[in-house]
Parts: sequence; C-alpha cells; structure tokens
Amino acid sequence: MIENNVQIESWGPFAEGKNNIFHNELLQSIGNKYNKSIAQVVLRWPTQRSVVAIPKSVRKERIRENLKIFDFALSDEEMEKIKTLDTNTSSFFDHRDPKMAKWLGERKMND
Ligand SMILES: NC(=O)c1ccc[n+]([C@@H]2O[C@H](COP(=O)([O-])OP(=O)(O)OC[C@H]3O[C@@H](n4cnc5c(N)ncnc54)[C@H](OP(=O)(O)O)[C@@H]3O)[C@@H](O)[C@H]2O)c1
Repeated sequence: MIENNVQIESWGPFAEGKNNIFHNELLQSIGNKYNKSIAQVVLRWPTQRSVVAIPKSVRKERIRENLKIFDFALSDEEMEKIKTLDTNTSSFFDHRDPKMAKWLGERKMND
C-alpha cells in the first residue's frame, strides 16, 4: 500500500468500545508502564505501524487524551504482544463475504 502511495486508515480504532477493550488487562499493563491510558496505547499501535487512526469521542478531555500519543513509543515486544489480541474476525461485518458485498452494492445503487 505504501509503495502505491495509499494511506491506510483505522476508522473506529476502538471498535466502538466492543470486546471490553477499555478494560483489557494487557493494554492496561502496557499503559501503566508509560503512564498512558488504554485508549492511548490502542491509538499508538496503528500509529506506530503508519496507519492513521480516526477515533471518535464526544468528550473534550478524551479528545485531548487521544491526541497525546506522540510522546512515547511501544517496544517491538509490546507491538507483537498487542497483535495476539487479534480475534481474526471482524467486529462489524466481513467485507469479503459475497452476501455482504452484494448488500452494500445494492444500498449504493438505491441510496
Ligand atoms: N467505524 C466505522 O465504520 C466508521 C464509518 C464511517 C465513519 N466513521 C468515523 O470514524 C470515527 C470513529 O468512531 P467510531 O464511533 O466508529 O469508533 P471508535 O472511535 O472506535 O470508538 C468510539 C467509542 O470510544 C469511546 N472513547 C473514545 N475515546 C475514549 C477514551 N480516551 N477513553 C475511553 N473511551 C473512549 C467513545 O465514547 P465517548 O464518545 O463517550 O467518549 C465511543 O464510545 C468517527 O468519527 C466515525 O464517524 C467510522
């Protein structure tokens, strides 16, 4: 993607708070080390992989918190540990499922 000048983005980097992410023990222990919140660890992970994160919050203090991720760096080991949280299933829907692709295509035509 980088070679083709395409910027990958993470729309919904907290997965809307699904999977109890804001209480995850691994993320909490990593955050404790840097005096950072779980949200900040979560946002640092894609950022450090050159993926642009687009988080949403309606709270001013959280928006500020979510911006303060450029003054620390996760170690290679921590980056790898966070990868183990991948469930290999979409938290929303599967863009590769032909039925879903058809449904999305139909919506575009009708909307
Ligand atoms: N996900 C998609 O498919 C999609 C599609 C199109 C556009 N977008 C846009 O992309 C952005 C992503 O937002 P999203 O809602 O989909 O998912 P998200 O950013 O993964 O999650 C937002 C949730 O995290 C909470 N949150 C944010 N910062 C937090 C923090 N520091 N500590 C604890 N909780 C925190 C928010 O609560 P509070 O608001 O109460 O703080 C909200 O419940 C939005 O601007 C959305 O419009 C997303």
